[in-house]
This record gives sequence, structure tokens and C-alpha cells, in this order.
Amino acid sequence: MSGIKTLGQFIIEKQADFSYAKGELSRLLRDIGIAAKIVNREVNKAGLVDILGDAGTTNIQGEGQKKLDVFANEQFIAALTSGGECCIVATEEEDDFVPIDSPVSKNAKYIVCVDPLDGSSNIDVNVAVGTIFSIYRRKSTEGLASLSDVLQKGTEQVAAGYIIYGSSTMLVYTTGKGVNGFTLDPSIGEFCLSHPELKIPEDGTIYSINEGNYVHFPEGVKKYLKYAQVEDKSTNRPYTSRYIGSMVADIHRNLIKGGIFIYPTTAASPSGKLRLLYECNPMAFIVEQAGGIASDGRNRILAIEPTTLHQRTSLFIGSPKMVRMAEQLMAEHSPVTALEAKPQEA
Ligand code: AHG
Ligand code: MN
Ligand code: MN
Repeated sequence: MSGIKTLGQFIIEKQADFSYAKGELSRLLRDIGIAAKIVNREVNKAGLVDILGDAGTTNIQGEGQKKLDVFANEQFIAALTSGGECCIVATEEEDDFVPIDSPVSKNAKYIVCVDPLDGSSNIDVNVAVGTIFSIYRRKSTEGLASLSDVLQKGTEQVAAGYIIYGSSTMLVYTTGKGVNGFTLDPSIGEFCLSHPELKIPEDGTIYSINEGNYVHFPEGVKKYLKYAQVEDKSTNRPYTSRYIGSMVADIHRNLIKGGIFIYPTTAASPSGKLRLLYECNPMAFIVEQAGGIASDGRNRILAIEPTTLHQRTSLFIGSPKMVRMAEQLMAEHSPVTALEAKPQEA
């Protein structure tokens, strides 16, 4: 066992860094790690049991829910309910936020936002999926926690992370003091520190975008794609195109290798597709902590003031040099319109 550091050991070691509520945040991270292991178990045997395919229900955004979406959602809510540190779970799969009302949660101080299963359209074809989580401290001091406790800016996150269920399973998280990655060792059932102090390369050669939507992209994004495809040895262009369709997996790869992930506005998603609270804020916090940038093409993601639970935004995220170039082309070719500037409902 020498040299191995488990997630549990690491959290305890690092809790001295937290400015408050040391034990509570540690327990919350532990609860998330437990739910992740249970979801991992099911994802891994997805081909063996009758768990593939549609659950036959739709979530609030009208998207078909997969059985594993529903399962993962239940597991995270259950783990956070029994853990006792969380007073509200807001999840992509529920219409409204879920207040946690259990005897052990009476003094709970944390809000958790979660995308229980990201990239779920990839489950049936054995491609990596993920979980994304984001933790806020409750702001209100009296009565029951409410929507305003959930609608906090991304800068208020106290921790965020993702789990990638890929060729190996990894948990990557930040508490605002850098980013660390842990790989699940199935033989001992523990996440072990494998990627300490992750840093995203300053520049990269990978761009990740669903180019099928090209005709509907803002002009600035079209110009960036042209820029990415032009031959220029001094800047390592043309770049390489890599798009999995699981945001967690696409951003994880770019975090390690360097790259940019873009999900801009499209005709089908005029405000962008990805959700601010469950997807963009946590990934933005992690990528910034690793030295990268996350914006909506013009503004920092973490500075966006959320107005609704399922709010969407466009997302430009990754290596700082690449995101800055894309933002520059957006500024030059896609000036803000009044419609785009207004946050819209899911
Ligand atoms: P989810 O499975 O949680 O609904 O998220 C899917 C998201 C994200 O993971 C991915 O990057 C994006 O949708 C893919 O969308 P397109 O199929 O439109 O490219
Ligand atoms: Mn998602
Ligand atoms: Mn999802």
C-alpha cells in the first residue's frame, strides 16, 4: 500500500485548507464519492442487465431520460440525504430543487447542484459518461433554505468536481486550491490520488465542438473554426478535432492534453444547450483552478448571475490561449444583441 493516497485520506489531510466547516465539507465530499462508486458499479455492468435504454419518462427540459440517468439521480440524492450535510439538492433531472428534510440534516449548511449522468446518450454505445457536482454554502440563516440559496454565482462555489466513468473511473475535484484527480482502483474499491495538482496546458491543438450545427453558429465561432483549420506551423495549426459528446469526457481530455471545448448558441438552443448550475459553473471552477479559462464567449462563466434553476449558457472553456483567441473573434464578428444578452429559461 505504500505510496497510495486514497481520496478519504487526501480530504482529511487537506481540510486544514478550508476556511470554515472543515469536517462538514469533508463528509459531503465523502458522500459524493460513495454515490459515485455505486453509479460506477451500475455503469460498468450496464451491458449485462436490463438497465440500458429509455426510462420512458422525460425531464423538465423535455429530454428523454435514460434508466441510468434516473438511477444516478436517485443515488446522489440518497447519499446526500443520509450524509446529513446538505439542505438542498438541485439536479438536472428534477423540475424543482429537492429540499432535504431528514433528522440528520437539521443543521445542514450546504447546497449541492448535480448533473447525475452527463453524456447519457453515450451509455448504450459504451462511451464514457460522467457526473458533475457543485457545492455552495447556504446563505440564508433562518427558516428553510430556498431557491435564492441555490441561485448563487459560480464564484461562490466552495467545491466542484466531476467523475468520469471511462476506460478507468476518475474523480477530479477542487475546493479552490488547485485541482486533484483520483483514479478508482477496483481491486480495493478506493479512489487513489493519481493526478496531483492538475494544470491545463497554456495552449493546445485540440478543438471540441459539434460541428454538425455549423450553419447556426455565431459568426465569431465560424471564424474560430476556420482559424483552427488553417495551416500555420508556427502555431501548430491545423488543430485536431475531437468531440465525444460527453462534456465531462471532452473537457477531461482537454484539461490533460490542452484544448478548447465550445458549445455555442445554435438554432435549436438559442441560449446555448449546457446548464449553468449543473454543468458550466462546476467545470468552469475546475478549469480556472487548473489555470484555464471559461466564458460564454464574452463574459466569465463564474460571474454570471443565475436567475433560474435550469438556466442555459453558451460555453467556451479550456486552454487560456485558445479561449482568448475564440473570444477575440467573437468580439470582432459577433457583437452582443439584446436577445442574446438576456438570460433565458430552460
Ligand atoms: P446530458 O447527458 O447531461 O443531457 O448532457 C449532454 C450534453 C453534454 O454532455 C454534451 O457535451 C452535449 O450535451 C452534447 O450535445 P450535442 O449532442 O448537441 O452535441
Ligand atoms: Mn450533462
Ligand atoms: Mn445529465
